[in-house]
Amino acid sequence: MRALYIKAYGGPDVMQIGELPDPEPKRGEVLVAIKAASINPVDWKVRSGELKLITGRTFPKTLGSDFAGVVERVGTGVAVPSVGERVYGITALMLRKPGAHAERLVAPPKRLRRMPDSMSFELAAALPVAGLTALNGLRQCGDLHGKSVLINGATGGVGHFAVQIAKARGATVTAVCSERNAERARSLGADVVIDYRKQDFARGNVRYDVVFDVFGHLKFPAVAPVLKDHGTMVTTLPGPSLIARMVWRRFVGGKHIVLGSMRDRPGDYAELERLLADGSIKPVIDRVVPLTEAAQAYAALEVGGTVGKVVIRTG
Ligand SMILES: NC(=O)c1ccc[n+]([C@@H]2O[C@H](COP(=O)([O-])OP(=O)(O)OC[C@H]3O[C@@H](n4cnc5c(N)ncnc54)[C@H](OP(=O)(O)O)[C@@H]3O)[C@@H](O)[C@H]2O)c1
Repeated sequence: MRALYIKAYGGPDVMQIGELPDPEPKRGEVLVAIKAASINPVDWKVRSGELKLITGRTFPKTLGSDFAGVVERVGTGVAVPSVGERVYGITALMLRKPGAHAERLVAPPKRLRRMPDSMSFELAAALPVAGLTALNGLRQCGDLHGKSVLINGATGGVGHFAVQIAKARGATVTAVCSERNAERARSLGADVVIDYRKQDFARGNVRYDVVFDVFGHLKFPAVAPVLKDHGTMVTTLPGPSLIARMVWRRFVGGKHIVLGSMRDRPGDYAELERLLADGSIKPVIDRVVPLTEAAQAYAALEVGGTVGKVVIRTG
């Protein structure tokens, strides 16, 4: 099969496209012919070696977390899904399992979700990691109706879902993004847009019920002054000091911190699919590229400026 893989950690130049052996489904496994996959920051973080203590030193390593495709074969003992079913999901890339930027993938059924009939492969591949992260981050902030929610990093993969979900739940939404994406943020439903290059919202006078730091580099002491009493800071990238503060804030009460991390229980997928079906969220796909152009697509995401998701067509 053709795959995007690395034989060593490093920059974009370590990515190669070539033939790897077709994976074989063992007992309890499913072989999926991947039709589309999307790129998430975790993919280029794995490639760079930033996470090598977790991802190990076994090569070649295929990259890619989100995927959508068709069940090609099932191993013994697999009752569902069946051959021909359209499925989507998230690989266990961080657990040293094969990635999805390839023509085929072997995964256990628990990692596969049946695709709703109305979903295209591109759309299904754009949804899981970013959509489930936005959903989980906001879920922990309680009832958002009438609340003021600021999304920092509002037009990227996670952010563009978070803006739409917060809006659908009745919040007034402030989007923080670069100027070039301001119009897009408004079209997603943002009431107020702040260009992070021109204005530091954390030094402003407006106070928020929720600050969702999707970008993930803000410190709690910087955010706290613009949080209302009992307000919540959500972060996608918790460092050790933030985790320590999170535990501490639980004891002392008042303003607190929660982790905006990805959760992929069946009920989470069902909630995301409901939001999609009722039109509350519309995934934005910045571009769809063939596997041969995947390295350039990675580079575009790393440099910044893409809106929503970047999708790779694999089949
Ligand atoms: N913990 C988890 O389970 C989990 C799950 C998913 C993602 N994450 C992490 O969450 C982060 C965001 O993921 P993503 O998929 O949304 O990435 P993304 O698609 O690359 O989006 C990142 C966004 O951050 C914006 N940004 C860049 N510099 C900024 C700044 N100084 N201030 C505010 N915003 C800024 C970018 O805007 P411009 O392009 O307009 O500059 C872009 O829209 C990544 O670090 C990812 O690893 C964690």
